[in-house]
Amino acid sequence: MEHLVYLLILGICSLNILVYCENIDNGINQSEERTLLQRIEELERLTKKNEEINRAQAQEISQLKKDLHQEKKKNNSDGKLTKRQGNETPVAFYGKMLALNSNSGNVSNQVIKFDKIITNIGNAYQSNTGRITVPVSGIYVFSLTAMASYRTDTHVGIYVNDQLKTYLKLNGPEHEFDTMTQTAVYYLHQFDNVSVKHTKTNATLRGDYTAFTGFLLEQDYGYIISNGNNIVG
Ligand SMILES: *[C@@H]1O[C@H](CO)[C@@H](O)[C@H](O)[C@H]1NC(C)=O
Ligand SMILES: *[C@@H]1O[C@H](CO)[C@@H](O)[C@H](O)[C@H]1NC(C)=O
Ligand SMILES: *[C@@H]1O[C@H](CO)[C@@H](O)[C@H](O)[C@H]1NC(C)=O
Ligand SMILES: *[C@@H]1O[C@H](CO)[C@@H](O)[C@H](O)[C@H]1NC(C)=O
Ligand SMILES: *[C@@H]1O[C@H](CO)[C@@H](O)[C@H](O)[C@H]1NC(C)=O
Repeated sequence: MEHLVYLLILGICSLNILVYCENIDNGINQSEERTLLQRIEELERLTKKNEEINRAQAQEISQLKKDLHQEKKKNNSDGKLTKRQGNETPVAFYGKMLALNSNSGNVSNQVIKFDKIITNIGNAYQSNTGRITVPVSGIYVFSLTAMASYRTDTHVGIYVNDQLKTYLKLNGPEHEFDTMTQTAVYYLHQFDNVSVKHTKTNATLRGDYTAFTGFLLEQDYGYIISNGNNIVG
């Protein structure tokens, strides 16, 4: 009887093993299946989340592109230049008077020409007229040094568009020379001209000791002066 029970139990166990083996043959057991399903659900959730993030980023990129386009259009319609380097048009002049410039008689308003041109970057100085014509608007620096011979009363000035701006008064004493320097900074508009002139009759300037220099300090790309309320001179 006992043996019979054992045999029966053994039989049931073998049956179980068979059923179990059949399950394995089919591929995966229930626990694995649950785990896999959970992982698939998790992946689906992550994919959805990524899709949402991608959509939001695409929207943001498209908005940024629109903004950039607008900004560029605005800049162009303002007609403003874009600064690419310090000065796109370098201007620098340095010239001296070589010969004694002795002008008895009325030399008032006469443009003084500088015949020894040492620097003329940008060709702003024209030797035929003795004038500097500035090619671009901006802040310019000028420096004029003059020497008067003895016994002469020499007055010279820096003129912008034929208007006296800076003045040098020299009075050479009996056996001495008189010398003076003035440095000036002007905001100039494109094509303004700058010259050095006598402002008095009977003036005498010493060659080689009389020199004039000017250069573009900063080109105006449209943001130095907007309404002319800070124009110099
Ligand atoms: C299902 O299979 C895994 C590994 O294949 C195993 O660790 C686990 O115990 C099994 N579960 C059942 C209920 O048989
Ligand atoms: C527009 O101009 C401003 C200066 O006026 C500059 O800072 C900006 O970078 C410009 N934008 C573009 C898109 O060119
Ligand atoms: C000198 O000439 C200028 C014109 O170039 C004239 O305005 C001025 O009155 C003259 N001065 C004298 C003292 O003749
Ligand atoms: C310099 O400016 C004056 C005054 O605007 C003008 O009459 C003259 O023609 C200009 N000269 C040159 C060389 O540009
Ligand atoms: C200029 O000099 C001449 C002589 O060199 C003199 O006759 C004349 O009076 C002087 N004129 C002035 C305005 O000083």
